Amino acid sequence: METKLVTIPCLDELSPAQEQALQEAGEVLRRGGLVAFPTETVYGLGGDALNPDSSRKIYAAKGRPCDNPLIVHICCMEDLSRVAKVSDEALRIAAHFWPGPLTMILPRQQEVPAETTGGLDTVAVRMPAHPVAQKLIRYAGGYVAAPSANISGKPSPTLAKYVMEDMDGRIEMVIDGGEVGIGLESTIVDLTVNPPQILRPGYITQRMLEEVLEHVEADVTMLRADTGQAPKAPGMKYRHYAPKAQMTIVTGLPKEVVAYINKQAAEDSSQGHKVGVMATQENVSAYRVQVIKSMGSRWDEEAIAHTLYRILREFDDEQVTRIYAESFAAQGFGQAIMNRLLKAAGHHVVEVSMHPQE
Ligand code: TXA
Ligand code: MG
Repeated sequence: METKLVTIPCLDELSPAQEQALQEAGEVLRRGGLVAFPTETVYGLGGDALNPDSSRKIYAAKGRPCDNPLIVHICCMEDLSRVAKVSDEALRIAAHFWPGPLTMILPRQQEVPAETTGGLDTVAVRMPAHPVAQKLIRYAGGYVAAPSANISGKPSPTLAKYVMEDMDGRIEMVIDGGEVGIGLESTIVDLTVNPPQILRPGYITQRMLEEVLEHVEADVTMLRADTGQAPKAPGMKYRHYAPKAQMTIVTGLPKEVVAYINKQAAEDSSQGHKVGVMATQENVSAYRVQVIKSMGSRWDEEAIAHTLYRILREFDDEQVTRIYAESFAAQGFGQAIMNRLLKAAGHHVVEVSMHPQE
């Protein structure tokens, strides 16, 4: 299959040609085809959420296990009750955070095929804030199932060129809307349990949710691999977001972290490895390794989240075989950053000092 690539920058006013391209993409989705598109979090791989064949095609294109359910994307509140049973809590959360980087797990309506929900009685729903995504959903008929547009197991794409790398020849169309804003996937909150539980951390933090709902818990497996429990979101159990190289997170006092990484890197290089470091801007100049990538200032979490997946992909492109990453305080948005880093590293963490910087 030939994959058509169209560019639609995130402008307020679309040209007639861009509007027509989006309309055409909507028709591809209505006919059961697949279209990748930008959202404010990461690129999504869209199919008609109410068509079981489309969901099957999504699993096939991604190479994704079919017990891992998809998120249904909508573009207006009136459309929610057709796919999910809506509670007061859900309405309050939606009023506060939609459109935006938040996914709610709710009891599902019969109309959502089991192929979309991975056979569960619940459904994940999100209303994205990206104007291109919103228009596409409207043109597609209102309900677009969209996992991240990567091959299963690879880092989620933050640029259309990474979508093309993974999906070229597998889907009908890719819409290039430039680099995404946030760079990490949406927060997932499960409202079918009491108290509500965060299954995947993201830009919308526990504290932000607790301003709307009294008490919200977090799945204990988000930051730990040693709980003996399976994550509640089926997708979180896979070694996800992973680069090809073996990756280690190093925690401790900054000087000791740098010294440890430089020493390990020298050893790895002598054994023929190509070593890459994910450094904070503050430490970049202190590393003596082949490939050093700055994630941004330690104090700018949004910058770090924004660059994380791109850097992991760049390491793959540059055939790095060993990666070392600095670690971050796992609070607020930092929880999402550490969750993705830990998953990329398969929870391989080395602690080099008694008093870590956090
Ligand atoms: O930001 C995002 O959410 C992006 C963009 C494209 O919107 N989408 C995304 O989808 O990250 P995906 O498929 O890569 O991740 C969906 C996650 C998986 O971990 C899946 O297991 C979980 O949501 N999930 C979906 N339905 C669920 C359900 N009913 N119960 C529990 N977890 C669910
Ligand atoms: Mg994904």
